[in-house]
Amino acid sequence: MQFYFRNSIVRRICYYSEVDSTQSIALSLAKKKSRDTHGTLILAGLQKNGRGRYDRQWISPSGGIWFSLILKPRMLVEQITLLPLAVAVAVAEAITTKTKLNPKLKWPNDVLIDGKKLSGILLDIDTEGEKVDYVVIGIGINVNVDSSQISSKIVSSDELPITSLKEEMSGSTICRTEFIQLLLEKLNYYFTQLEDKESEGRKIVLSKYKELSDTIGKEVSVKDQDEVFEGTAVDIDYDGSLVVRKSNNYIHRVVSADLFVRRIKINQKM
Ligand code: BTN
Repeated sequence: MQFYFRNSIVRRICYYSEVDSTQSIALSLAKKKSRDTHGTLILAGLQKNGRGRYDRQWISPSGGIWFSLILKPRMLVEQITLLPLAVAVAVAEAITTKTKLNPKLKWPNDVLIDGKKLSGILLDIDTEGEKVDYVVIGIGINVNVDSSQISSKIVSSDELPITSLKEEMSGSTICRTEFIQLLLEKLNYYFTQLEDKESEGRKIVLSKYKELSDTIGKEVSVKDQDEVFEGTAVDIDYDGSLVVRKSNNYIHRVVSADLFVRRIKINQKM
């Protein structure tokens, strides 16, 4: 596997054919005080114990892209609130460039095709006061895999249906090395936008995200810690939070939550 680090936030790649979780390896490196780990990418052929959001399992058979990237940016916490959205935009754009498919984004950062999940993103962030200490960006993409390899192992009934690039391209496979190379260039571009101290870069990220959003305008159920409520997703705020209007017109800003897009029953009688 040969990578070129031109236009990339990556400085080194550590490849493992099989790991428990790239995120666990990256996290233990990121927690070390040294800044030397900045730009380290942990890439795996397969994961035996991949981790998803809310500590769910993430099934990662061989043929997919499973990696975690450590960043130790000199940034303020307020500069990275859009990072989960920026990463999702980078993944979606890389998919469109390589395959001509048109993925959509379910807030905050699920990448979907026709309502089926193609990719998931997990961010572990640690801060020291107002400053970012480290960020570990975990990305999983079902590339050259059969979705049945994944769905047959999922235990929770809350999960979205699964798909893969191979399935969406009628069985054609894609070169993962080229795909990763392109994705890293996109990540570099969007991360640089967030580094911009003026708000211009953030506006670019937000407007790209809104173009790709599959959540704005939908009826949603939001599970925010112990509370569950329903409403209409009306916008994404400047800090990446989801703006939900409840039936009593009360506006609720959701920073981080499990979101379910409700299927609306259409009444046949007019
Ligand atoms: C989600 O729940 O949607 C996020 C899934 C994130 C999976 C990736 S695969 C690479 C990295 N290693 C892990 O254990 N998880 C993330």
